[in-house]
Formats: sequence, structure tokens, C-alpha cells
Amino acid sequence: MQIREIPWTPLGGVYEQDDLDVVMKMVLAQIDRSAGFFRLPEEPTFEKAFAEHEGAQYAAAVNACGTGLDLAMRILGMGAGDEVITTPLTFVATPHCIVGVGAKVVFADIDPQTYNLDPAKAEAKITSRTKAIVPVHMNGIPADIDAFADIAARRSVKIVYDAAHAVGTLYKGRKVGAAGEMSSYSFQSNKNMSTLGEGGMVTTSNPEYHARLQRIKSFGFQYGPVDDVVEWGTNLRMTKLQSAVGMTQLSKVDEINHTRNRYARYLSQQLADVLEIITPFDDGTHFSPYHLYMLRFNDEAVNATRDDFVKILKGKYKVGVTFHYPPLWNFSFYRNLGYGPQDAPIAATVLRQLFNVPVFPRMKMEDMEYIAWAIKESVADLRRG
Ligand SMILES: Cc1ncc(COP(=O)(O)O)c(C=O)c1O
Repeated sequence: MQIREIPWTPLGGVYEQDDLDVVMKMVLAQIDRSAGFFRLPEEPTFEKAFAEHEGAQYAAAVNACGTGLDLAMRILGMGAGDEVITTPLTFVATPHCIVGVGAKVVFADIDPQTYNLDPAKAEAKITSRTKAIVPVHMNGIPADIDAFADIAARRSVKIVYDAAHAVGTLYKGRKVGAAGEMSSYSFQSNKNMSTLGEGGMVTTSNPEYHARLQRIKSFGFQYGPVDDVVEWGTNLRMTKLQSAVGMTQLSKVDEINHTRNRYARYLSQQLADVLEIITPFDDGTHFSPYHLYMLRFNDEAVNATRDDFVKILKGKYKVGVTFHYPPLWNFSFYRNLGYGPQDAPIAATVLRQLFNVPVFPRMKMEDMEYIAWAIKESVADLRRG
């Protein structure tokens, strides 16, 4: 094959004429002064459609997944003296929601196959102070929801899911939006669907949690014939424009997810026999929208490192590669709090080995063929030394 460049294209959301039309329509509507941007019919429409899409009873639109997680911690009453267990293989928003309410982050180790929080490892870290567990559906590969539900029932802890990557994920055939107490999704730019750069949604099947989400995200207001402020709140609202675009994005996210899934499965098939490369977990019991296509360089089986390999893949074969996620304890904030690889040795090893190659919906099958070829050639180059 001819060497060509496959850059890392970070934008996951696919904006098209339908998104543009809806933005134009909304902005034009503001010329009618009675319309206004506030009280938002678009927002409940999007919330209802999203809840249905994710198999939950309720959904509350917010300005980001991170603030959705913050709200979940607050609503569950987490605070000083409480411990909350989570995974170290994630974006910093996950542990930040625990720190943000003054509780203590406890990292438990991951399952080396799925890269998700290992329920048994999490349970082993439960103490009398543990109040909650925050698993992540990493890359859209579902966390073990049944195992966490069992732990929640037996050990009286609450489960909140970081579902940033999980729009469209199926766990044993079920959508994941009703799992645990609450799940927080992200529509930030590079997610599989996006609401003009930022946005999030918190799903739940608990009406009281939903009511509190709606109130706290809007200064504590309870809207009715007479608007009342019934608790503290702030402004974490999604805009009307974002909600409208959320509807157009939602209408195509399944197709986008299937494209990503098809490309990912093709790559995994092509790389199945390459000793140096470990492909994403797929035992046929779930559907992943592959927000990221994470590969692992098996540095324990061969005498080379991920960085040796990536140098060839990027340098010679021009395939864009990223390293999501940097270990959280590499950030001074978490390092200074005393966290390190000792908290989760399996995650520490996996984090050293992970790299991502571009799998995005606007790419073509030829791009996947090239990436598979480039990875195999890079391995062959490495073997030749
Ligand atoms: C696992 C995970 N959790 C939370 C977030 C935060 O999402 P947002 O940017 O919508 O707050 C991200 C965003 O990249 C993420 O990857």
C-alpha cells in the first residue's frame, strides 16, 4: 500500500444541513419578540426523546457531563467524611465530581479486558465510610451493571454511572440509561453526538432525583403557576439552540454508532492474530458505539514499548495516534493528594500500553484498511529491529 496520512480528527459529532436548518430557524424565530430564548419547549422535547433513547424514565439536560456528575454527587448527599470508589482509567471529570463535594476519592482497579472498573476490586475497597461507586462505560463498552447492582443491594452503596461515552451502548441487549441512581452523558465536541460543542444529560428512573436535577440546574426554581425557589441552585442549563440541535443529532446517532462499530470490528478482526496488539473487548454480549478505538501494545509479550511502536506508526506510516487517558496521578493535583500507580497496578500497566487510532464516522472503509495495514507493517518493522 502507498503511505498516506490519516490524521486524528477529533470531531465526533457530524453536523449537516439538518443541524444548520434548525439553528437558522431558531435564531430567526427570535425576531418575533414573544418567542424568547427562555422557557424552552425544545428542552423537554429533547429530554423526553433522550430518555426514551437510553431506556430511562427521565432525563435532565445540563451544560456538560461533568456538571451532571457534580449534581449527582450533591443530590445523593455525598460530602466530607464519605468515600466514593471509582476507576483511575478515565477523564479527570470522574474523580473531580467526588472531590468537588468534599468526599474522598478511592481508586479501585480495572478489569484488564474491558478497561472498566472491576466490580470485585471495587467491592474489596468498600469501608464503613463508602457511600457510592462511580463506574465509567469506557469508550461505550458497558460497565458490569448487574454486578454493580448486586453490590449496591448487598452493601448499601449508591451507583452513579459516568456515561460520557455511552449514548447507544447496549449491555446484555439493554440500554444503560436506567442503570444505578443516575447516569451522566456528554455531548461535548468529540463525543458521538454533540450539542454545538458542549452539553450533557443526566438520566434516572427516580422522580425525586429528576426533580432535584431540574431545580438545581436552574437556581433552585420550581416552575409552576407561581414560580418558587425551593432550594439552592445555580445555572447549569442547556441552551434552547443546543436542545434543538440535540434532536437532530439524536436522529442520526444510531447510524453514526453503527458506522463506528463496523469500522472497529473490522480493525479488531484484522488485528486478531497480531501478538503485539490487544484489541478492544468484545464478547458479543454488548454493543459499543466505540467513542474511542483503544488498542494496547502488549509490551509484556515482546521486547519493545508502546512508544517504540507508536513512533513507527505515526512517523513512518502517518497514522494519527492519541493517548487517552493520561494516568490521573500524573496530574499534580491527584499526585499531590497522594494517588499513584500503587492504587491500581493493573490500570497502571494498561495505561502505559494504551493508544488510540482514528475511527470516526466520516472516515471510509479504505481508511480502516490502511490503518490495519499500517499497524501490521509497524509491527513487522519493529520485529525486524
Ligand atoms: C469519561 C468522561 N467523563 C466525563 C467527561 C466530561 O464531559 P463534559 O466535557 O461533557 O463535561 C468526559 C469528557 O471527555 C469523559 O471522557
